[in-house]
Amino acid sequence: MKIAVFVSGRGSNLKAILDSSDLKNLIEIVCVVSDKTDCQAFQIAASYNIKTITVGNKEYMISFSELIKLLTELKTELIVLAGFLKLIPAEFISFFESKIINIHPALLPSFGGKGMYGLNVHKAVFDSSAKVSGTTVHFVDASYDTGKIISQSCVNINDVNSPEEIAERVLKLEHKILPEVIKAFAEGKIKKVNNRVIIS
Ligand code: GAR
Repeated sequence: MKIAVFVSGRGSNLKAILDSSDLKNLIEIVCVVSDKTDCQAFQIAASYNIKTITVGNKEYMISFSELIKLLTELKTELIVLAGFLKLIPAEFISFFESKIINIHPALLPSFGGKGMYGLNVHKAVFDSSAKVSGTTVHFVDASYDTGKIISQSCVNINDVNSPEEIAERVLKLEHKILPEVIKAFAEGKIKKVNNRVIIS
C-alpha cells in the first residue's frame, strides 16, 4: 500500500512507521508532506531517501490542489496525519474521502478541537485531573478531531506530576497504535459497520 505521511515537527511517529517490522513488506511511503520547510521530520525522511513536499500558499510551496494531483500521480492509497497541524481544505478531504487518518494524543471526543495539539492537549488533560489519557486514531473529516474513531489505547496517569509526563506515556502508545492501524488498513481489515468503524 502506498502511503503519504503529513508532518509538522519532530517526526517520531513517522520514524515509528518507518521502523515497524510489521509494515516493511506491506507499505511504501511515497512522500512526506509538511507545512514547514524545515522540520525534524523532513530530516528523517531525507535519511530514508523519501521525497519531501512543502504545502502552503507561499510561492515556493505547492497548493493543496496541486498536492491532490501529485498524490494521485504517486498512486497514494492512504494519507496519515502524524502531527500535521495545518487545517486541510474541505476539497482535499472530500477528494480523499475515507483515505485520511489522524493520530491525536488524547482520548477523543474529549480534549480535541482547534488549538488542541501537542503539549496543549496534555496540559488540558493534566488540569482536568483526568485519571487516564491515551491516543486516538480516527478518520479525518472537515473539522478538527471529529471523524469516526478507528482505534484507541489508554494509559493510567493517576500518579503523574506534569503534562510532560503524560506526553511521554501517551507517545509510547502512539508509536505502537499507529503502525497497527496502518497494518490493518493495508490488510483491508478496516470496515464500517452499523455506522461504526471496526477492525476485523
Ligand atoms: C503527536 O503527539 C501527535 O499525536 C500530535 O502531535 C505529535 C507529533 O509528534 N498531534 C496532534 O496534536 C494533532 N492534534 P511527532 O512529530 O513526534 O510524531
